[in-house]
Amino acid sequence: MPADYTPATIADVRRLRDTLDQQGRKLVFTNGCFDLLHAGHVRYLEQARALGDAMVIALNSDQSVRTLKGPDRPLNHQNDRAEVLSALRAVDAVVIFDDERATLLIDAIRPHVYAKGGDYTVDSLNREERAALENAGTQICILPLVPGRSTTSTINKMLGSGNAGACESKLRIAVLGSGEGSNLRAIIAAIQSSALIAEIAITLSDQADSNFLKIAREAGLTAQFVDGGPNPRRLSDAAQKEIFEHLERARVDVVVLAGFMRILKEPVIGAYQGRIVNVHPSLLPKHKGASAPQLAIDAGDSETGCSVHLVTSEIDAGLILAQAKVPVLSGDTAETLHARIKIEEHKLLPQVLNEWRERGLPVRGAGVP
Ligand code: GRF
Repeated sequence: MPADYTPATIADVRRLRDTLDQQGRKLVFTNGCFDLLHAGHVRYLEQARALGDAMVIALNSDQSVRTLKGPDRPLNHQNDRAEVLSALRAVDAVVIFDDERATLLIDAIRPHVYAKGGDYTVDSLNREERAALENAGTQICILPLVPGRSTTSTINKMLGSGNAGACESKLRIAVLGSGEGSNLRAIIAAIQSSALIAEIAITLSDQADSNFLKIAREAGLTAQFVDGGPNPRRLSDAAQKEIFEHLERARVDVVVLAGFMRILKEPVIGAYQGRIVNVHPSLLPKHKGASAPQLAIDAGDSETGCSVHLVTSEIDAGLILAQAKVPVLSGDTAETLHARIKIEEHKLLPQVLNEWRERGLPVRGAGVP
């Protein structure tokens, strides 16, 4: 019987790098999860290997795959993933690492070439990883994505997503927020009480210190910070893409914007058309934008409320799914009024999501309801 496979250590790879260096040859480094190997991986690795004379793969450990891709992953144990990879002719060594990013390994190994797959650009690389590479004098090479092949699409095919009606199944939702997180808390409570038959597959925030993320973590949810870039209302192109990738990996049916303060654009808006909902503190189409309760007071309205609506590329303008009314009281400030509106939001949003599920909508790949 062949001996059990043992992955390489950092010291092994360091030695390989130094030997190559003395010979004027190059070590290529790449990293990833490689959970379910497919032809796209093989072709990518062949191309990466051709950039130098030997190649090491930094393989995300099981723990780090869970953090990156959610609790259902990886499908294969880290040593098995390493063993399969190391059998490929392009691969000289596989080293397993625990962090979300390969920064510490890059610092330790100082590879000659760093290969990254997919549709990254040098600018959309993780900032710390990029700094580590620049510090090590590593040449960065971005290789084109092999179209039509991905682990996520394979898993989705196996699960038959897009075919089954959603009535019997739990809705897989992503919740995005930037602030207080009271709507997230209401969704969690509705799920716990079975008023909403759903599963929060991922939560995402552009605010690292937000109460929203704190609530998500305390509830044991996958909680992901995405650096949105310098403009507080806009998301950088890299962030739009990062959010899209998180949603795809988490295989969500519906994206819920619960106080997410930045504007989503492509690729999320197109890919999730008809499956993104937002909750807004006014009776839309009245009082769009960020200060809706104050606008209702300034307009002298006797009542306002909240709306749950579909998200399109136009702000607060998609199809309204449900509304609830709230009286404006004399002496109301924007804060007191907003607090009363939120009480209604906390009932309305889970209710809309559950009704949506009961009607068999939406499922992945479904059109606009
Ligand atoms: C809610 O009032 C929602 O309507 C608006 O942002 C607020 C989010 O509140 N879009 P919270 O973070 O859920 O407490």
